[in-house]
Amino acid sequence: MAPPYPGERTEPLVMHEQIAHKVEVLGRRITVDYEQKPLTLIVILKGAFMFAADLARHIDLPITMDFMALSSYGESTRSSGIVKIQKDLDHSVDGRHVLIVEDIVDTGLTLNYLFGHLKARGPLSLRICTLLDKPERRKVAVPMHYKGFEIPDQFVVGYGLDVDERYRNLPDVCRLIREGEA
Ligand code: IMP
Ligand code: MG
Repeated sequence: MAPPYPGERTEPLVMHEQIAHKVEVLGRRITVDYEQKPLTLIVILKGAFMFAADLARHIDLPITMDFMALSSYGESTRSSGIVKIQKDLDHSVDGRHVLIVEDIVDTGLTLNYLFGHLKARGPLSLRICTLLDKPERRKVAVPMHYKGFEIPDQFVVGYGLDVDERYRNLPDVCRLIREGEA
């Protein structure tokens, strides 16, 4: 493993074996629930790319994949609720079953916005699948139909998640510990 960045270390919170098992279970549930109907996965970049890549391989349905990039104004580790679409979908979701694939739901502001936004584009159905849920910091309720793990209110990196673009390649979901913190 590459050496840590100065003043920071990471500590595994959800190990890659646990993630792999959960992703398989989620994929099987999605496969059963959609009963062979065509499904569009909307992957929220960049954090969900690794989760989505693994999840898609456990979904035995005719799926298509599209990608969206969102940013919320404000500090890098705190969501402001004002969401900007940095990269929009390439294809229409009108008349399609749509599943949003997200890395983590924190305040819920980002997904709350996106859910309403996509709903207005006329999908047949719209659901959310998130790898991680930090319920302690929720500000708005978000319907999470598929969820991997609930985690405490700690900043995490790895398995696609970053801080300032770093640590996305870690196989485990890890707590980020900065010097002077416990
Ligand atoms: P929300 O709008 O507060 O729910 O924020 C959701 C977004 O903030 C996620 O899609 C992530 O991009 C980012 N985020 C929230 N918590 C974390 C974390 O612990 N690590 C990395 N990114 C996070
Ligand atoms: Mg995200």
